[in-house]
Amino acid sequence: MAITPRDRLIVALDVSSVEAAQGFVARLGDSVSFYKIGYQLAFAGGLAYAQTLTGAGKQVFVDLKLHDIGNTVEQGVKSVARLGATFLTVHAYPQTMKAAVEARSNNLRILAVTVLTSYDDNDLEAAGYGVTVPQLVARRAEQARDIGVDGVVSSAEEVTKVRGIVGAKLALVTPGIRPAGAEAGDQKRIATPATAIAAGADYLVVGRPVIAAPDPKAAAEAIVGEITAALQK
Ligand code: C5P
Repeated sequence: MAITPRDRLIVALDVSSVEAAQGFVARLGDSVSFYKIGYQLAFAGGLAYAQTLTGAGKQVFVDLKLHDIGNTVEQGVKSVARLGATFLTVHAYPQTMKAAVEARSNNLRILAVTVLTSYDDNDLEAAGYGVTVPQLVARRAEQARDIGVDGVVSSAEEVTKVRGIVGAKLALVTPGIRPAGAEAGDQKRIATPATAIAAGADYLVVGRPVIAAPDPKAAAEAIVGEITAALQK
């Protein structure tokens, strides 16, 4: 089934309390159907709140980038599945991805993070790797495909290349989105919603351009409008 333009926008609830998150969700109303909960909110009551959101018919992306021994990953994935979440991230290590894929249930889909976008070739070398970032991204995308994860988190820049590796079936989820004219903040590699969709992204993760906007609802509606227009091209 085709994903609606609204369901392609995932708003990052990067706030420090459930009260703050509730405030945004109430203000955004029907303009947003999909929320991402990361470290900041998850470790401040956000996982219980994830269940409230899914109970209210919203989709939730739990962005905890799991990486541990297989058994621990499996048990963690089962608990996240019970929250009713739609997406969960894991680091793209073969053991970790295999454990997550085996343990997923209840419509939970596993997303692999290939190489953190804050890493460059020097960081990989310092961490003991003898490959460049593009080489490692390609290798891990191939492994993600072969292991059967459901999607990959990818910067807009990498979308075309990753799509070429993983094929049409996997979901590509792209952060670093800035509507035309918005502040980049600390994001270095940014793309507009239209550019990311045209490159082949399925879902866009947007934080500050919505939650720090003077009118978050209008900002979300404008992004959904941009997604709709890009899909018609
Ligand atoms: O506020 P902004 O739109 O930059 O938020 C982007 C969200 O996407 C944040 O929650 C951030 O953790 C996440 N993210 C990212 N870049 C990645 C992976 C995740 O910005 N490579």
